[in-house]
Amino acid sequence: MAEGIDTDCMTLTRFLLAEQRKHPSATGDLTQLINAILTAIKAISSAVRRAGIAQLYGITGNSNVQGEEVKKLDVLSNELFINMLKSSFTTCLLVSEENETVIEVELEKQGKYMVSFDPLDGSSNIDCLGSIGTIFAIYRRPNDDSIKQEDILVPGRQAVAAGYALYGSATMLVLSVGHGVNGFLLDPSIGEFLLTDRKMKIKPRGKIYSINEGYSSMWPQQVKDYIDSLKFPKSGKPPYGARYIGSMVADVHRTLKYGGIFAYPATKDSPKGKLRLLYECIPMAFIIEQAGGLATNGDINILDIKPELIHQRSPIFLGSKEDVEDLMSFFKSSGDKA
Ligand code: AHM
Ligand code: MG
Repeated sequence: MAEGIDTDCMTLTRFLLAEQRKHPSATGDLTQLINAILTAIKAISSAVRRAGIAQLYGITGNSNVQGEEVKKLDVLSNELFINMLKSSFTTCLLVSEENETVIEVELEKQGKYMVSFDPLDGSSNIDCLGSIGTIFAIYRRPNDDSIKQEDILVPGRQAVAAGYALYGSATMLVLSVGHGVNGFLLDPSIGEFLLTDRKMKIKPRGKIYSINEGYSSMWPQQVKDYIDSLKFPKSGKPPYGARYIGSMVADVHRTLKYGGIFAYPATKDSPKGKLRLLYECIPMAFIIEQAGGLATNGDINILDIKPELIHQRSPIFLGSKEDVEDLMSFFKSSGDKA
């Protein structure tokens, strides 16, 4: 280390290349694909940080001083993701929260992976400078036949990698390629993600619950009873603390770091919950499970659900294993589904 600079730092690209070397048959396509995602994430992070100055807030359709159309942050993020993924020559099918239908990559640019993503999640936090994030999952193309929507409607357990980027007080990328979870902080001075959180593990039990308590009158009875059990513990134990940012990446990241449970249950108004399986629930469940935690819809493991629609919603409860098991016991004892 010289002049406060680590001359041998573990960048994310270096980390991926080292992982790739462990699998002699690997072609390097996954590394190339994740590098394309990193480019999009760095550009989104830069746009998020400059949003006010660059007039990226507000609705689409505004013009900037050059008379060019100013894109809202979520539109810009989506375009970045699609363009970077297509031009990496490693993908064939994309599902984005922002696009109603699947995106088929042009034949001449097709590769062997499929990606589902939410390019900018938690958009209600943008205008108040709250934390927002990007979420993604990567799947292998099942065969060489022409690609179709059903190919990506598979249980999350079949994903080869998943991750999220958090645009918080710093930008962090949390990634799993199926062998544990690692966290990388963006060093904006060199534009590289550096390994800072090696082999992340979630505590078996936490002390925090995270749920939109405003909807409690619309929760299923089991969720009401479970949350009450945290707030009014029987045995004289201290109650759990409550934290809710309303931005899934920030709430899940805190749950991963500090332990506890994050929940978005079904409500009377949204009987299937709010969060979407392909690009919100499954990638987060993949990360949490790889870190030793658990994710369920109250009835079955999130990673065992076979999605039927690309924008399908699901109730979700994820976090520390013992906390999620406690929640599940409330559903089991009532015999009802979430
Ligand atoms: P979005 O995809 O429209 O941004 O909504 C998803 C967000 C999640 O980040 C967060 O967990 C949830 O919505 C919060 O919803 P609510 O405001 O109903 O609590
Ligand atoms: Mg979203």
